[in-house]
Amino acid sequence: MSTAYVNGRYLPKASAGVHIEDRGFQFADAVYEVFAVQDGRLVDEDGHLQRLERSLDELSIQPPMSRKALTLVMRQLLRVNHLRYGSLYLQVSRGVAPRDFPAPQNLTPTLVMTVTRQKAFDAVAARKGVNVITTHDLRWKRCDIKTVQLLAGVLAKTEAVARGAAEAWLLDDKGFITEGSASNAWIITQNDELITRHTDHAILGGITRQTVLKLAAENGLKYEERAFSLAEALAAREAFTTSSIIMVRPVVKIDDTQLGSGECGPFCRTIIELYDSYLKNGFSA
Ligand code: PDD
Repeated sequence: MSTAYVNGRYLPKASAGVHIEDRGFQFADAVYEVFAVQDGRLVDEDGHLQRLERSLDELSIQPPMSRKALTLVMRQLLRVNHLRYGSLYLQVSRGVAPRDFPAPQNLTPTLVMTVTRQKAFDAVAARKGVNVITTHDLRWKRCDIKTVQLLAGVLAKTEAVARGAAEAWLLDDKGFITEGSASNAWIITQNDELITRHTDHAILGGITRQTVLKLAAENGLKYEERAFSLAEALAAREAFTTSSIIMVRPVVKIDDTQLGSGECGPFCRTIIELYDSYLKNGFSA
């Protein structure tokens, strides 16, 4: 049984809970972060905390505590759970109030954290490719804010699983792929150019995405941040998808189109190896 953190208390996860009038529950008036944990350490902690602070700021939700205090609680939660490999989920809602649309000012935010155990990142196992499907992007116009308002992603991923795929890549009205339901989308063109969509309000600026771009730049790999269409993705040499949970995962089939040989290609293998060294070197290149 794992231990959760809820508003200052460490509790058995099964009996931990929040108020039924929490605005996170009533309105999805809440933001979150998922931190990967490798060898007992939070991967890209600073990047995730910066994004959390930005999400809170964009929605005028009070930070639940100082950054310093938050990092102490996160470490304590890893300790009490003896968590070396897995992830830490952190959610901040605006707080508890009688159900009414206008957001009340000066509520005490609700802070919840849980952990999930996973295997260590394995660069060989990570080469196993996955299939993705494409489906319409039904989300709102501020996908850059990491809110818990995830219903469109839930429906897209459910459709993916029903169609035998691991992820859904989302298509905007012009036929461009924005990102995955819970990951950022990447292709490698026939000219060996790495492409991922530029960040704006239509996608979440993934922290793994940011790290992969940094590793690409440091290792002289050519990349471009721009929108790419479904047609371009289907004609790609390779593709992959990134998030804090899956890290880097090759995509070998998009809808009914197999990419290349149907296995992890050389470019993607290089990215996996760079990411693996990054983790092993304590999150520096
Ligand atoms: N999701 N895009 C979306 C829509 C996401 O939900 C996520 C992550 C990402 C990748 O972001 P990052 O590299 O910072 O994890 C991109 C998390 C893992 C989740 O909701 O479980």
